[in-house]
Amino acid sequence: MAKKLIAGNWKMFKNVGETVAFLKAVHERKAEFEAAELAVFAQAPLLPVIQAEWVKWAGKEGVATWFSWGPQNIYWEDKGAFTGELAPGLAREFGSTFALAGHSERRQFFGETNESAARRAVAAHANGMKAIFCVGEQLADRDGGRTNDVLREQLAALFKICDKAHCGFSIAYEPVWAIGTGRTATSAQAQEAHAFIRAELVKAWGDGEAAKVRLLYGGSVKPDNAKELLSQKDVDGVLVGGASLEAASFLAIAAAGQNAT
Ligand code: PGA
Repeated sequence: MAKKLIAGNWKMFKNVGETVAFLKAVHERKAEFEAAELAVFAQAPLLPVIQAEWVKWAGKEGVATWFSWGPQNIYWEDKGAFTGELAPGLAREFGSTFALAGHSERRQFFGETNESAARRAVAAHANGMKAIFCVGEQLADRDGGRTNDVLREQLAALFKICDKAHCGFSIAYEPVWAIGTGRTATSAQAQEAHAFIRAELVKAWGDGEAAKVRLLYGGSVKPDNAKELLSQKDVDGVLVGGASLEAASFLAIAAAGQNAT
């Protein structure tokens, strides 16, 4: 069975000291987790901090084996007059091997569209990073029975510019009504949405390619609901916001991933 990916989205939290303390706490429990696959998404200025700390412990060779990191957003051009954006190559230079694309908070507060999210995901791949393309419906969509329509449309933007999974994507299904609300999707709701996403991937890219894409669930994942979510057939990992800020709860979720069946 493939490893479950346990990814933390730190959002606009953590300063340098808190980041170093978190990494130290994770590294101290290396023996328990070096067979796992963990990642965190940090604010851009923390990427070199994470890299420097991790190199100190793991040595250059050991970097990014069981613990990876990346930016929460990147631009799709390599460089240029794009004030306030982050060059993908620069994120990569600081050891990033993953990048988030199209998180719902980017969509909600910063005008991210399906098309721009898809371009960021492709740019991540072009720069040697694995993109996690985020999708998910609003509460009104779910209540109105439009969840699958929303997901189909979000994914279509990706399929339009990427003709197979060689782009190394993961897809994070994060129902907007479950993010930061304490209201998690039930494991059945998560599985149902993931199965739908998998079927869309099969339609667009075929069975073999679709099977390569990891599907993560996000939205109020906590240590006490992680195992059940991660035991669902099409849940290959989780994207965790609030509960990823403390090393102890992040690692409790990682432990749940190791015990998931
Ligand atoms: P949450 O956030 O776990 O705090 O709900 C998830 C996310 O935004 O990725």
